[in-house]
Amino acid sequence: MNEIAEIANFVEGQLADDQTGHDFSHIKRVVKLAEQLSDEIPSSNQMIVLTAAYLHDVIDDKLVKDTNKQKNLVIDKLSELDFSSEYINQIMNIIEHMSYSKNLTNHYQLDINGQIVQDADRLDAIGAIGIARAFYFGGHFGDAMYNLDQLPRTNMDKKEYRKHTTVINHFYEKLFKLPDLMNTKTARKLAAQRKKYMENFVNEFKNEWQ
Ligand code: ADP
Ligand code: NI
Repeated sequence: MNEIAEIANFVEGQLADDQTGHDFSHIKRVVKLAEQLSDEIPSSNQMIVLTAAYLHDVIDDKLVKDTNKQKNLVIDKLSELDFSSEYINQIMNIIEHMSYSKNLTNHYQLDINGQIVQDADRLDAIGAIGIARAFYFGGHFGDAMYNLDQLPRTNMDKKEYRKHTTVINHFYEKLFKLPDLMNTKTARKLAAQRKKYMENFVNEFKNEWQ
């Protein structure tokens, strides 16, 4: 079996039980998008792009209890597959720094391979799939779909926030912002179409709600 197939198998096992929209089908879509973006950027390294795309959610602190243990597990797996320490460093750097939430507090300049994987992950958070994932995620955490109250955003701790936020609110807090944050030209183009689709959806949703 080649390295990429081994990585895919490893990740499928790691994410098998996920019910928050980070399951293996998300990973496969991100890998496909990342491959497509990488094809158009000759300076990217497709081996690094694909490996990081497969591994990007395996060390997420929302999904796993012990992130350090997961990081070591990933490093062991890559070493076992004879990835060089330089490649391992580059891959770990990408998956440790690409998340939206982490970049809000501390912006990290990803290299081109990381920018591609980040774009691919963000593309899968918007459009029709993005809408479905947001409601799936919200349902899992018990969030309401929507309410007509304006959400007071200041001075709210994380727990309090979870009680008040809605899935539609998430579109404004994150999903509508993602298209402007895309790193690559192709992702920006795809994101613009997906954003339009989400805007139509939210408009229709609010009309029906009234
Ligand atoms: P990141 O890895 O960039 O921090 P997340 O893991 O938070 O991104 O998001 C993954 C998916 O879960 C996305 O599709 C996102 O829209 C969805 N999601 C995250 N937070 C919420 C939320 N509060 N309400 C609804 N969906 C959410
Ligand atoms: Ni992801």
